[in-house]
Amino acid sequence: MLKGRNILLGVTGSIAAYKAAMLCRLLKTSGADVRVVMTPLAKQFITPLTMATLSKNPILVEFFDPENGAWNSHVSLGEWADCYLIAPATANTLAKMACGIADNLLLTTYLSARCPVAVAPAMDLDMYAHPATQENLEKLRAAGVAVIEPDEGELASGLCGKGRMAEPAQIVRSVEALLDQKKKSLAGKRFLVTAGATIEPIDPVRYLTNHSSGKMGYAIAEALARRGAEVTLLSGRTCLPAPEGVRRIDVLTAADMYRAATELFPSTDGAVMCAAVADYTPAEVADRKLKKGDGDLTIRLCRTRDIAAELGRMKNDRLLVGFALETHDALAHATEKLRRKNFDFVVLNSLQDPGAGFRGDTNKVTLLDPSGAEELPLMCKTEVAGRIADKIENLLR
Ligand code: PMT
Repeated sequence: MLKGRNILLGVTGSIAAYKAAMLCRLLKTSGADVRVVMTPLAKQFITPLTMATLSKNPILVEFFDPENGAWNSHVSLGEWADCYLIAPATANTLAKMACGIADNLLLTTYLSARCPVAVAPAMDLDMYAHPATQENLEKLRAAGVAVIEPDEGELASGLCGKGRMAEPAQIVRSVEALLDQKKKSLAGKRFLVTAGATIEPIDPVRYLTNHSSGKMGYAIAEALARRGAEVTLLSGRTCLPAPEGVRRIDVLTAADMYRAATELFPSTDGAVMCAAVADYTPAEVADRKLKKGDGDLTIRLCRTRDIAAELGRMKNDRLLVGFALETHDALAHATEKLRRKNFDFVVLNSLQDPGAGFRGDTNKVTLLDPSGAEELPLMCKTEVAGRIADKIENLLR
């Protein structure tokens, strides 16, 4: 459920910190990439070595590494995370979060995080019931923080009551639910997605096309629809069924796709141009099958219109996401397309990368925008689609 998700786990100084080890393990086995930030006091309850071993990432406690001075950027940690989970969260940390105090790395990261934030309080029953704590939790809820209610039961103090941190399995379920909820974040938005290969007829029997299966574009349409967007999928030839909740319009040629896209685009909030569109089409289409002769055959091709470039001219404040399929000098060509077609960002895939591009279930992409490039590892096309949807969401925010 959390496959491909980046979870930043914040651990504060509570006896419940021992459960953070199990929590970290469960997050990892659910497929998440986990990084851990600890308060200095948390280190007294559970060792950074344990958390580093389980998360398979170095532990962050200080603003900079005292050994080499390397800066631990709270801003980039917040940007990296799909969810910031603070578990256990002490009364002290909750109070500081509610007031905007930022005297350690865990708290500064909270203030700069744009992703959903969840806290799992852990404390004595009287501390939990105290009006000050309850008021702080209310403030945090009002600020959009998800509070994972503590359980009732025996507490470290020997007392019995509400204050035990929720069990790790419950916390993982809450994080999954939170990320699912987030997925409705595009409700009310309309998108056009192009996918698949166009077909350029030569005669009633033969045509020019390419290897696109439509998988990448269909996965994007599905990811946007799952997040609540109204999606129209402008599809070239594929064998795929339309994703649930997506309106599909089938087209054949680049010219058909151009007409439909330019008509649909003005009533959307944005478009993702994933189709592999023919750049050339036969200048004449024979109305009867071309009979073969003894010699060679020359077919004159003429340029098709560039759909993405036209949408780039029409876009105003709409979002326009392009693809770049390259075989060499990938970054330079993609950067040129970003600028020339007026894209907000480009999804670059290179046929030089094994597992990337046409037909397969995986892709390896770099997301390129005017501020720089983010290279992603090889992933399933559905996960790549999720990353593209995340970036679209961030840009629309
Ligand atoms: O369908 P799959 O088998 O899953 O494969 C996925 C894919 C490899 C087709 C996909 O990931 C991809 O790279 N799609 C874009 C292919 C392409 O045509 O790239 P390009 O670099 O030639 O074009 C740049 C951009 O301009 C693209 O957004 C393209 O849709 C658009 N374009 C190109 C030509 C044209 N006449 N009109 C356009 O809109």
